[in-house]
Amino acid sequence: MKLVVIMPTYNESENIIPMLKALHEVFRDIKHTCEVLVVDDNSPDGTGDKVREFSRDNPGVHLLPGEKAGLGAAYLRGMEHAINHLGADAVFEMDADFSHDPADLKRLVAELDDGADFVIGSRYVQGGTVPKEWGWLRRLNSLGGNFVARYIAGIYRVRDCTAGFRLIRAALLKSIDFSEIRTQGYAFQVALLHEAVLLNADIREVPVHFTDRRYGESKLGPGDILEFLYHIGGIRFRSYRTFVKFCVVGASGVVVNLGTMTLLMALGVNKFIASPIAIEVSIITNFFFNNYWTFRYRNNRSRKRIRGLKFNAVSFVALLVSYLTFVLLSLWFPDVAPQVHQFIGIIPATFINYFLNSYWTFSEDKR
Ligand code: GDD
Ligand code: MN
Repeated sequence: MKLVVIMPTYNESENIIPMLKALHEVFRDIKHTCEVLVVDDNSPDGTGDKVREFSRDNPGVHLLPGEKAGLGAAYLRGMEHAINHLGADAVFEMDADFSHDPADLKRLVAELDDGADFVIGSRYVQGGTVPKEWGWLRRLNSLGGNFVARYIAGIYRVRDCTAGFRLIRAALLKSIDFSEIRTQGYAFQVALLHEAVLLNADIREVPVHFTDRRYGESKLGPGDILEFLYHIGGIRFRSYRTFVKFCVVGASGVVVNLGTMTLLMALGVNKFIASPIAIEVSIITNFFFNNYWTFRYRNNRSRKRIRGLKFNAVSFVALLVSYLTFVLLSLWFPDVAPQVHQFIGIIPATFINYFLNSYWTFSEDKR
């Protein structure tokens, strides 16, 4: 397996060479092939030149220069290059300023080796810390950002959503629809994580101690905070859009179900036979639309076959409940139009479908 550390830099000339040397040391203890890709945005302080020179004697160090367009843009460019040109199987995100301890790389790799898709060096799980020197404003800023990400963007299960120290499998990145990520700055971290959550990736957090940078100053500015707040709604809306699509599909299923039933009865089919056929037809159309429209972006996931089986099992239970409701109502109220009974039968089936599918078929990884 090949791991590439993507390290964005902007004016990190004092940090970058010591960092590259520290990484070199740590790579020896990792059993995978490790390389570094420095994504420098033509730093005026000459960071890029230093890296270029260093890379002459160090074949595992690469430089990807470019125009300054923000941290997120730099990561996107780096990920594309690492995967398509360096053949990375997984990539690290890491700061150049020693805020992230290079020695922690090993612990992130251990989780990847254990099967994780997305490993976060987390400040906000048990054992993780932020610098003691941080004043309340800085703490509040970081906690606020995480609160917004967790509760507005809907990434509830992750504690450190804005972390910039992460290890991500290339296979996961390949299945992400990057056209959905419109953030250029720091908000990219949350946007990318949200896509991973939607794909139901195996996301794990490893506690780390975050230290303040040694040299230079933070590049996180008010513009990044504004962009973050501006995009967080859009990130959430992506989830809403899925939910709205799910409801539209459900409504179309009702029409298909009742339409099929009416048609079959008009053709002279007995209502007790028309009912289950209509239910089954709507299950199939719902599955088709949800699979190719609502959850299109989830299609690349592994264990798809098991999910398909679970989905069918759930649908079967829903069909039985729906049909049983229809039969009982038809026997108790024989004078009411069968479409009304059929419609009422859809209601418990919808609940069963929703709960069993979201807590079983599409359940999140509990680890
Ligand atoms: N290429 C490029 N372009 N690199 C950039 C840019 C840019 O526009 N802006 C920042 N960087 C680089 C920096 O040189 C550094 O290596 C890294 O990205 C992180 O920037 P810092 O300025 O050190 O960020 P921070 O310490 O304020 O923010 C940390 O915490 C954030 C919130 O938790 C980082 O870990 C962020 O990644 C994290 O999102
Ligand atoms: Mn930093």
